[in-house]
Amino acid sequence: MLGSANADLVVSVPRRPAGGETVLGGDTAVLPGGKGANTAVAAARVGGSVSFLGAVGPDQYGELLRSSLESAGVRTELLRTSSRPTGIAYITVTPDGENSIVVAPGANSDVVVPELPWESFAVLVCSLEVPVDVVEGAVRAAAERGVRPVLNLSPVTEVAPDVLALLDPLVVNEHEAASLAGTLPGLLDLGPKSAVVTLGARGAAVVTPEGVTEVPAPEVEVVDTTGAGDAFAGALATRLAEGDPLPAAAAFATRVAATSVTKPGAQPSYPTPSDLR
Ligand code: ADP
Ligand code: NA
Repeated sequence: MLGSANADLVVSVPRRPAGGETVLGGDTAVLPGGKGANTAVAAARVGGSVSFLGAVGPDQYGELLRSSLESAGVRTELLRTSSRPTGIAYITVTPDGENSIVVAPGANSDVVVPELPWESFAVLVCSLEVPVDVVEGAVRAAAERGVRPVLNLSPVTEVAPDVLALLDPLVVNEHEAASLAGTLPGLLDLGPKSAVVTLGARGAAVVTPEGVTEVPAPEVEVVDTTGAGDAFAGALATRLAEGDPLPAAAAFATRVAATSVTKPGAQPSYPTPSDLR
């Protein structure tokens, strides 16, 4: 897993301050986050053998992220400690449940891909809160060594066409899909061998040259959808690494992600196989 690791600093506020204004909020919650770290934790919780490639800073938040990855069973020997501060997401939540977020990438900008024992990996999963050229280099290197590249193109970023062509699958949510292509089959015009689109409560769709296969999500009581897309990507990768065909892996991932939305937070809500409904 290659991607970001951020500390999420979350505070509830009665309303969003205007410029020059101060608003008093509740107590700060400090939570391990970042799309990359979330995905790695989700993949490990459902039984994947996962290494996380990323960067944190030499500070307390770096330690928090390292220990949260390790306690989920993620290997961290490829997690670098850079001289910049750990990435932080400053999140304010208003009573209507809406989030406003400022992300300071910090150490995530320092992620580099070292020489890797590619033969020991089956799948490379990347997401885009780290420099796109790093992701592009990793996808090319993985494909050259027979490692299956999966890219969660979130947030949407311009990626080199030769890199898009290697993806199997490209993973996006419905909004990202709409900004990339007019229709679901249209995603394949970007070049990937396959695509998976997450559709929130409606589950997911698997797009291959043979057509579109819908994968419904189980009906659940929604508590907090933070990090649901990351849970999906992690669970999908674990099953692809175990040799599942894409539709079966996507069906498993919708169950894992649906279970994650029934609990608060991102990483703390990610299920183990015995939590699945
Ligand atoms: P993102 O969090 O990236 O916006 P989605 O909202 O599409 O992504 O959610 C990702 C996955 O989480 C879905 O494919 C689905 O499996 C699960 N999920 C999200 N919201 C719900 C919901 N309300 N009910 C059941 N499953 C959900
Ligand atoms: Na959750």
